[in-house]
Amino acid sequence: MKNKYLIIFFLISFSSFLYAAKQTWKLLKDDGLHDPDNPALTLLQEPGEALLQLPPDNTGNMVSWVAALRENYITPRSNIYPDTKVEVLDMDIILENTGEMPMVRFPHKPHTEWLDCSNCHDAIFKKKVGANPINMFDILNGRYCGRCHGAVSFPLTECLRCHSVPRNTFKGKVGAQPERK
Ligand code: HEC
Ligand code: HEC
Ligand code: HEC
Repeated sequence: MKNKYLIIFFLISFSSFLYAAKQTWKLLKDDGLHDPDNPALTLLQEPGEALLQLPPDNTGNMVSWVAALRENYITPRSNIYPDTKVEVLDMDIILENTGEMPMVRFPHKPHTEWLDCSNCHDAIFKKKVGANPINMFDILNGRYCGRCHGAVSFPLTECLRCHSVPRNTFKGKVGAQPERK
């Protein structure tokens, strides 16, 4: 089990080293989704043309969406119905069952800037620390964090974006951290 992750880890560090940095996007005619023979293709905006203007990232679709939102590059509508309560929660959860890997910091803030509580609670995560048997196998199979990461948010190959808390330097209690107001 451990070896499997080690291999994945090295493969990933190596490939991200090879492809590091450069922001590039496939042309619509080469993306395998659009019909290159369709003459109407020229009417569509190329992804690169739109996305190059946003804060860069070095993975996924090469945009830091967290920064794009916070720095007001984009201002998506936060609710459709006027009576929907928009709630941003600034509370981190430190998850410790990570074997040899650094612990995981789950930050509520960047999630609730995009999502409603009900997007996760309780269908994906029960609203209680430790109540969810989260593990990497299930995540890689599209459950828990993997419902979004690797699909619509940054890919699962970015191990250290989630596993960001070294066990030996972390002081304090794991689980829910005090809420920042
Ligand atoms: C992207 C998914 C996601 C969203 C959206 C989300 N949460 Fe959570 N929440 C989690 C995860 C993951 C945990 C930790 C579960 C665990 O440890 O098993 C958690 C835990 C909690 C806990 C438990 C803390 C404790 O002390 O046990 C509370 C309370 C909570 N969330 C409230 C909220 C509220 C309120 C919102 C909306 C403002 C929200 N969450 C939105 C994923 C989410
Ligand atoms: C989207 C966030 C996320 C990413 C990306 C991620 N992990 Fe995890 N990982 C988790 C969470 C959450 C847990 C469960 C922690 C808990 O329940 O206490 C976990 C658990 C683990 C565990 C513990 C054993 C197990 O089977 O659950 C290992 C090992 C692990 N991850 C390795 C990796 C490696 C290697 C990568 C990169 C290829 C990676 N993770 C990427 C969130 C992530
Ligand atoms: C319902 C969808 C959803 C789920 C489930 C989810 N995330 Fe996310 N996550 C997002 C979105 C959307 C963003 C912001 C866009 C991006 O960074 O790709 C994000 C961003 C993040 C960030 C980056 C924050 C920053 O400041 O850049 C971390 C770390 C993260 N998620 C960890 C996790 C972990 C760990 C889990 C599981 C415990 C998880 N996420 C579950 C949707 C989700």
